[in-house]
Amino acid sequence: MEDYKSFYEGKTVLITGGAGAIGSNLTRTIAEIKARKVIVLDDFSAAYEWNIPSLTNVLSVKGSVTDEVALKRVFGLKPDIVFHLAAFFANQNSVDYPQHDLITNGLGTLLIYQYAQMCGTGRVVYASSGCSIYGSQAPLPLKEEFMSMHLTTPYQITKMLGELYGNFYNHHYGLPIVKTRFFNSYGPGEVPGQYRNVIPNFIFWALSGLPLPFTGSGEETRDFTYVMDIVDALLRAGYDERAIGQEMNIASGSEIKILALAERINELTGNKAGIVRAERRVWDTKKRLLACIDRAKELIGYEPKMEFEQGLANTINWFREHWDEIQRDAEFPPGMSAATSGMVVKR
Ligand SMILES: NC(=O)c1ccc[n+]([C@@H]2O[C@H](COP(=O)([O-])OP(=O)(O)OC[C@H]3O[C@@H](n4cnc5c(N)ncnc54)[C@H](O)[C@@H]3O)[C@@H](O)[C@H]2O)c1
Repeated sequence: MEDYKSFYEGKTVLITGGAGAIGSNLTRTIAEIKARKVIVLDDFSAAYEWNIPSLTNVLSVKGSVTDEVALKRVFGLKPDIVFHLAAFFANQNSVDYPQHDLITNGLGTLLIYQYAQMCGTGRVVYASSGCSIYGSQAPLPLKEEFMSMHLTTPYQITKMLGELYGNFYNHHYGLPIVKTRFFNSYGPGEVPGQYRNVIPNFIFWALSGLPLPFTGSGEETRDFTYVMDIVDALLRAGYDERAIGQEMNIASGSEIKILALAERINELTGNKAGIVRAERRVWDTKKRLLACIDRAKELIGYEPKMEFEQGLANTINWFREHWDEIQRDAEFPPGMSAATSGMVVKR
């Protein structure tokens, strides 16, 4: 096994948000490497028990990152490494519930750093977000040196806040923090819903025989990153000394047009309902997203491996395997868009 993987053997690892879309994949991977214990701290506000692996070295603690009783319990187990993935996700959710966003992403992150510093935790890896740092005016490909003060949602502001607090804890207390900036994760493990990403929602609607809502001109792009590539980057970020104090993009380093994505998902799922025009969300101003991943390559040896076509196929397979649970748990309000009309939904 490569060093950055075997490093986790026998370690105690805390993963906040470890039941979520990215967290559940990270939990499974580290547990299978034979970590001594993987502690999942998750309030299950956006996660499902069936999505976390039932392995003997996984301890699931239901609680909030803002609840000091829960924090004392998990930090009392003396984690060697903390992956802080818990968050109030994401842009539209934060527009609808800005106070909740600030409490979870702002105060929750500050508390994680405080407890990690008090307990002498060896490494904290923070799940930052590319869309939260660069704004909509940055030159492409997006590089770590650039930063925007013109963010368009509370989520973007509080995810940046997590980086700023991280810098403070690193500079002032020497807490070994790594800031990994993700770009549009996709893959097995993400249950669709009103506040979820475009790929799971497109697949859900396509498998339901509904048209896929499209808001743009046809030219919009995103840098979609396969979830297991993100997991690989996280393992490296938790291990490599050169990563400490650094921020780095974790992306695929390539662009996919949203319109082409919708058409491809319809082809792969055999959906004949096509696409439908939907209203653009006010905050959704980014035409293209493309990250430069040179820094992560240089510092931690990160190299995205998944071909987009294969990643999509894996995701669709996962949907088919878990269709009953996904249909039961996907959360959409009635009449959310043209594409959701007629769908059985709950909130
Ligand atoms: N998915 C992406 O495309 C993407 C992009 C950039 C950054 N990120 C960041 O990566 C991290 C993981 O993203 P994800 O896609 O897995 O999201 P997710 O919503 O699936 O996972 C977040 C998890 O945090 C949990 N949670 C929410 N509030 C909590 C609280 N107060 N206490 C404890 N747990 C709480 C949720 O139940 C969920 O399991 C987040 O921090 C997110 O901001 C994700």
